[in-house]
Formats: sequence, structure tokens, C-alpha cells
Amino acid sequence: MESITDKSLTHDTGRFRELCKDGENFLICEANSRTYIFESRCPHLNVPLSKFGRVNNGVLECSCHHFTWSLEDGTPISAPGCRPLKVFKTEDLGS
Ligand code: FES
Repeated sequence: MESITDKSLTHDTGRFRELCKDGENFLICEANSRTYIFESRCPHLNVPLSKFGRVNNGVLECSCHHFTWSLEDGTPISAPGCRPLKVFKTEDLGS
């Protein structure tokens, strides 16, 4: 497995670093002295979270409709009817 620090596999948008691994895209965000790793598309309408996502206090907000999810476990907070966000640990990526 490739390391998440392999620059050839990442795309840095400023807020997020995007990683493509085994055909799946992940977003990596450093915020509040934590590293959060989660799926790259919004569970609501599949927009890229590298463009529309914001992370604050362990919560991901998609600015399209301002739905929010917990980055601890992906639970929808203000995302009525949406599926949970897929959240990963560093170990899941084999770093
Ligand atoms: S597209 Fe993300 S909250 Fe609607």
C-alpha cells in the first residue's frame, strides 16, 4: 500500500489534501491539531467536498446546503435523510 504522504497521489487544495487510493478518493484535513480523513464527495448530492467542505470543531459542513456531519463517526448532525459520511483512520490508508 502507498503512503498517504506520497505526493504523486495527492492533490492539495489548501484546506484539504486529496488522496486517490485503490480507486477511492479521500480527503485529508488538518484542523484543531487533529487529522481527519473522510470520503471526498458529499453524501447529499455527491459534490466535491474539497471545494464545498469546511471543517470546524470536529464537524464537516458542506456549504451547498449547510448540512453537517460528525468527523468522529460520520453521523449526520443536520443532514436530514442523508446517509452517514464515511470517516477513516490513518491506519485504514496503510500509512
Ligand atoms: S450537496 Fe452537500 S449538503 Fe447538499
